[in-house]
Amino acid sequence: MSILFNEEHNTITINTKNTSYQMRVSSEGFLQHLYYGKRIGEENFRYLYHNYDRACAGNPDEVFPNRAISFDTMPQEFPGYGVGDYRIHAIAARNADGSYGADFRYAGHEVTKGKYKISNLPSSYDYSGDAETLTVTVNDKITGLTLELLYGVFEDEDVITRAVRVVNNGKGEIALDRAFSMSMDIPFGKWDLVHFHGKHALERQTEREPLTHLVKSVESRRGTSSHQENPFMIVCDRKADEDHGRCYGMMFVYSGSFKAEAEVDQINSTRVTMGIHDDQFEWHLMPGEVFETPEVIMAYSGEGLTELSHIYHKFIRRNICRGKYQFTRRPILLNSWEASYFDFTDETLLALADEAAKIGVEMLVLDDGWFGDRNSDNAGLGDWYVNENKIKCGLKSLVEQVNAKGLKFGIWMEPEMINEDSDLYRAHPDWAFAMPGRKPARSRNQLVLDLSRKEVVDYVYDSMAKILSENNIEYLKWDMNRSLSDVYSAALPAARQGETMHRFMLGLYDLMGRITENFPDVLVEGCSGGGARFDAGILCYSPQIWCSDDTDPIHRLNIQYGTSFGYPVSTVGSHVSASPNHQTGRSTPIHTRAVVAMSGTFGYELDPAKLSDEEKEEIRDQIRIFDKYYDLIQGGLYYRLSEIGEEPYEAWEFAAEDGSEALLNVVVTNIQPNQALINIRLKGLDPDAVYELTDESEKYFSRIPTMYTEEIHKHEKTLFRGDALMYAGYTFEMVFGDYPAMQLYFRRVK
Ligand code: GLA
Repeated sequence: MSILFNEEHNTITINTKNTSYQMRVSSEGFLQHLYYGKRIGEENFRYLYHNYDRACAGNPDEVFPNRAISFDTMPQEFPGYGVGDYRIHAIAARNADGSYGADFRYAGHEVTKGKYKISNLPSSYDYSGDAETLTVTVNDKITGLTLELLYGVFEDEDVITRAVRVVNNGKGEIALDRAFSMSMDIPFGKWDLVHFHGKHALERQTEREPLTHLVKSVESRRGTSSHQENPFMIVCDRKADEDHGRCYGMMFVYSGSFKAEAEVDQINSTRVTMGIHDDQFEWHLMPGEVFETPEVIMAYSGEGLTELSHIYHKFIRRNICRGKYQFTRRPILLNSWEASYFDFTDETLLALADEAAKIGVEMLVLDDGWFGDRNSDNAGLGDWYVNENKIKCGLKSLVEQVNAKGLKFGIWMEPEMINEDSDLYRAHPDWAFAMPGRKPARSRNQLVLDLSRKEVVDYVYDSMAKILSENNIEYLKWDMNRSLSDVYSAALPAARQGETMHRFMLGLYDLMGRITENFPDVLVEGCSGGGARFDAGILCYSPQIWCSDDTDPIHRLNIQYGTSFGYPVSTVGSHVSASPNHQTGRSTPIHTRAVVAMSGTFGYELDPAKLSDEEKEEIRDQIRIFDKYYDLIQGGLYYRLSEIGEEPYEAWEFAAEDGSEALLNVVVTNIQPNQALINIRLKGLDPDAVYELTDESEKYFSRIPTMYTEEIHKHEKTLFRGDALMYAGYTFEMVFGDYPAMQLYFRRVK
């Protein structure tokens, strides 16, 4: 039993393998949060708190004349609004009479086997069949607004998920101005906030700052989870590092606008919240109606950031991703985008397929430009039928010819979008978001389809299903290349326009659900101008997401580093592209590009015809290496071994959970003359075992020329003890040249 109710103390305690989470029902019925942290034996954490009259803090009526009890100072499980708590809140409701009150009291709780379900939204699932659900019900007596606070308890995974079912059990209409998914008070301690900000082509940059008495928010108003902030944040001890310190993670299973807030209050208690962004959000609940929030995945590590990442990696792989390709080996692909952009014909594509087959690639992906009048990015979105001026043989025949060369075939679509220059727009101009009397803002010269309307979703589904069922397509790159604006649905009344943003998301998830359910053999890769929708919501439909439009491996180190805090390598779409790089003009060795891309789903995004024979030979070797270490890379424990930007190199490692093998990766980002030696201490090995080293990069990076030393190339030791590698480390010889990369494999031999 991982959920315990203590009748004497009125505490509800959730235990996972390594954590405990406790809340308490006070004698007045307030639901208070007492503890989340390292697992502790049976204890009543009420002793941690003392009530004082702190002045100017409202006191609920039933505690009169006690002035020491106030919503404003008590730790709460799910803070309401308008009744005396002035801190950040989790829900705001406007009642039929115009009052803004939401004041909740405990009404009961229930423990059920299995994981709760949220209708119409993606959420985690019970992979191993031992999850439990705790439902705590609280209600507002005056309005009848009821909250079912849902806790999914994954004991072995050390995860607690949270969501809320908001029910109008009253007699009047209630408008929700905010309906967040979670709130948590952490009454003691000084904390840092780690969040992942960015921009197009430079997503998930790691930023860490102290939480102070200012309210800080991590948010997106863009209708996508966004390039600019990721819906994942960490609150950790000021001194926490990879291996030490308390760390809380909060990850939103949602791909639209979101807001996560953190505030240190007047008595230094920290509150964190997370939910759908409340800008342009208003949900009307008629009597009897229910609103379900998306889910937040919460985790706690008492042993630093690496352990927190490992919890998320495992949970996403097992409890978020699903379908045929969840664990099955995924094909190594060649994507046509950076090879030819919009400029191709069936003949050039077949030539590309020939080249791809020769270097050992397994799938050709035809990116943007194959449909409608799509010769540039100004036209064609919405017209999902093949452009026979470019693909004269037709799509079916093209796919068959590619298959005949031994390659699978994948295709790109951007289903949520429409160009004004398209047959679809000419037929249904009102299907695009636009506000009455205003010309909507274009972005990449495209508009957004109103997926809050069922007939639009049905149309898009039918046109996608036609392409997928008529052709042997085994992979779909599902793109989405703009932020939402002018969000207004011609199909909703004025009073309901605040629902449109979220209804768009519900329409999108319906569409993704139908496609993945009806085409279970198609591997879907999410994408949004690169990584603007890199989130756990999308990962419920596609086990991988194109991580960034920036394929420069040196930037990718940074992007993939930030991504790794919350998301496993198996979700990170990453390709080797041409040099000089198309986004930055930087030149890097093909070996370095491959070492970086291998820490992802791996593939190519270039025209092999433009490569030298040596480079093609090297690619064959890259594919051999990736194949050889596939399970270790995709399923092993990921260790960050350098703090990004702090050293002239970046290092990371994959280690098997049982310590039997490890793959160490290093890229030198700032080569120096007379350099200090690079020494890396590995992690996750068996200290008493002996490991044999295979240098997979030996041929591909240069040592310093011999004129500098006579000792060169004498480093022939191949057997190392695990403890030596972990505590003294491995020291590389001096390296030379532009951005060299090293890849060392250690296998336990005794
Ligand atoms: C987005 C994607 C790219 C590519 C283009 C095509 O930018 O992120 O990978 O598919 O669209 O237009």
